[in-house]
Amino acid sequence: MTEILTAEDTRRAVEILKRGGLVAFPTETVYGLGCDAFNELAVRRIFEVKKRPLSKPLIVGVAGTQDVYELAEVNRIAEKLMKAFFPGPLTLVLRKKSVPDIVTGGSEKVAVRMPDHDVPLSLMEKLGKPLVVPSANVTGRPSPTTYSHVIEDLGGRIDAVIVGECRVGIESTILDVTTRPAKVLRAGAIRLNELRKYTDVEYVVREQETYRTACPVYLFVGENTGKKIDEMVREAKKRGMKVVVIARKKFGRDTINIGENIEKYASHVFAAIRQAESMGAELIIVEGPPEDHEGLMERLYRLAGERVIKT
Ligand code: TXA
Ligand code: MG
Repeated sequence: MTEILTAEDTRRAVEILKRGGLVAFPTETVYGLGCDAFNELAVRRIFEVKKRPLSKPLIVGVAGTQDVYELAEVNRIAEKLMKAFFPGPLTLVLRKKSVPDIVTGGSEKVAVRMPDHDVPLSLMEKLGKPLVVPSANVTGRPSPTTYSHVIEDLGGRIDAVIVGECRVGIESTILDVTTRPAKVLRAGAIRLNELRKYTDVEYVVREQETYRTACPVYLFVGENTGKKIDEMVREAKKRGMKVVVIARKKFGRDTINIGENIEKYASHVFAAIRQAESMGAELIIVEGPPEDHEGLMERLYRLAGERVIKT
């Protein structure tokens, strides 16, 4: 059974974590699935319930920058970036000191982040230890941003979920600072221009696995999205298909409004996909964001795969 807890029940959640249980909780980015990062059996269970290959390492969460020095070797760039971005949606990859191999997938590096959210911070403070903080979805699904998304994916297989809000809506930016220039391993909530104020960063857009969704997702980008989306909606309806449009303006009854500004867009996009699925969509159309954002685009391309339409 999965207990549903409120943010006031963190003491209960800490009891569960102490005996090696798995607890999902909101972070500022997306929902995380946590356990004591030093309990190898618990960490193993995280890989099992997420159906995640053991070769894909987990991020370690910390309650304060001082904890990072115990887990990893902190260089000058890392120090500068921690000062600027911790707590917040930046994950730093560093040379590890004392982190179980199962957490890092055998790698000599560890990914560390300090969430900007009271719930995980207070869990770690009360537990007195770091937690692993992977996203609380089954591998291949879009990340959850509400507790009910977590229940959809992992209900009955984890010990508890804490109800709360994920403000940002997309995952942290991951930066490997063991190399010069630093390498972006995943674009995310922190824009690369923000990082470039502090250090050189290299970003190579990589081919990534498409998310598993209940039906195909089409992404429309460019200047004339409105007209082209209208055409596709009409065409699909003629064939009797249920189409749900996720857009900045209304395209008929089955439109999920995603909000005009980029922050709103990011914070709603994953939830909108899950909502469209639960409406029984046979085709999902997504209108691209109002401005470029590497982290957001990485996720939209993972949703659409080959189905990107430039207008
Ligand atoms: O915003 C986030 O980062 C969320 C919240 C819940 O903390 N977590 C998250 O975790 O997105 P996850 O497991 O879904 O993605 C973690 C990514 C994976 O792509 C993994 O390969 C990479 O981080 N990663 C973890 N440890 C690493 C390491 N030692 N070296 C390189 N990449 C690492
Ligand atoms: Mg994930």
